[in-house]
Amino acid sequence: MNPLIRDWRNKRVWIIGASSGIGAETARLLLRQGAQVALSARNQPLLESVAAPFPQAIVAPLDITDHTSIAMAYATVRQHWQEIDLVLIVAGAYNEMRAESFNMALTNHIIDVNLRGVYHCLDVILPDMLKQQHGGIGIVGSVAGLSGLPKALAYGPSKAAIINLCESLYLDLEPKNIAVYMINPGFVDTSLTANNDFAMPALMSAGDAAKALVKGIERGDFHIHFPKRFTNWLRLARLLPYRSYFYLVHKVTGL
Ligand SMILES: NC(=O)c1ccc[n+]([C@@H]2O[C@H](COP(=O)([O-])OP(=O)(O)OC[C@H]3O[C@@H](n4cnc5c(N)ncnc54)[C@H](OP(=O)(O)O)[C@@H]3O)[C@@H](O)[C@H]2O)c1
Repeated sequence: MNPLIRDWRNKRVWIIGASSGIGAETARLLLRQGAQVALSARNQPLLESVAAPFPQAIVAPLDITDHTSIAMAYATVRQHWQEIDLVLIVAGAYNEMRAESFNMALTNHIIDVNLRGVYHCLDVILPDMLKQQHGGIGIVGSVAGLSGLPKALAYGPSKAAIINLCESLYLDLEPKNIAVYMINPGFVDTSLTANNDFAMPALMSAGDAAKALVKGIERGDFHIHFPKRFTNWLRLARLLPYRSYFYLVHKVTGL
């Protein structure tokens, strides 16, 4: 559904959320394959440690909730590169939340990072991407956005919106020769999931998640999801009538 990528050498990739986890591993993987990568997130020392072994890496710190800081990071990246071939928006915030523990401040934060943050990035990158008429945008959502799940009162809806946003973006940008990748991981072993107090099915390492993400982009997939042995079950479950879906979720999660 998107053009194939056979060679990452000299591709210019801006990764937002590259200081740890899936974003950092994706940066390392692409840098090892010869891509030029700009790394962004808030934690500058961590970004610099990811970039250190690779002379072609650029560090451009930003806070995705702050439009000005994104615009400044973009200006830094554009000082190095005339164009950007791929922007990957990976940054995310997660907290468990159930109705009994509903927290408006935490909900605002999750939506500011996971949803408004993505819109801030689009506002900054879209005009030039449309002008150059090539390139791609990948956004990391989550399988938690496919359908409602327990403990995901704020995180789930923030990621469901990303699914809808990616679908709309694809319809708009594909005819303009701009690729869109909707990236929905299952459980990945990172600092984001470190506090989960339940057994995470089909948990994968951040390195394996990065490999699956990059493979999906190389294949030109629109919907990149992994690990398939878990994500395909959730994709199937969302097609069930609600009575059966809710029964199944209660049964499987015990919640
Ligand atoms: N781990 C999973 O099981 C899983 C499953 C499905 C989807 N995901 C999604 O995958 C993405 C990456 O998460 P991860 O698991 O790799 O977790 P992670 O290791 O905690 O990485 C999160 C990244 O987001 C950045 N970030 C957070 N808040 C930010 C802000 N305000 N401004 C800029 N950057 C910010 C962090 O950098 P700084 O703290 O340095 O800013 C970090 O680089 C997220 O979108 C997450 O929702 C993860």
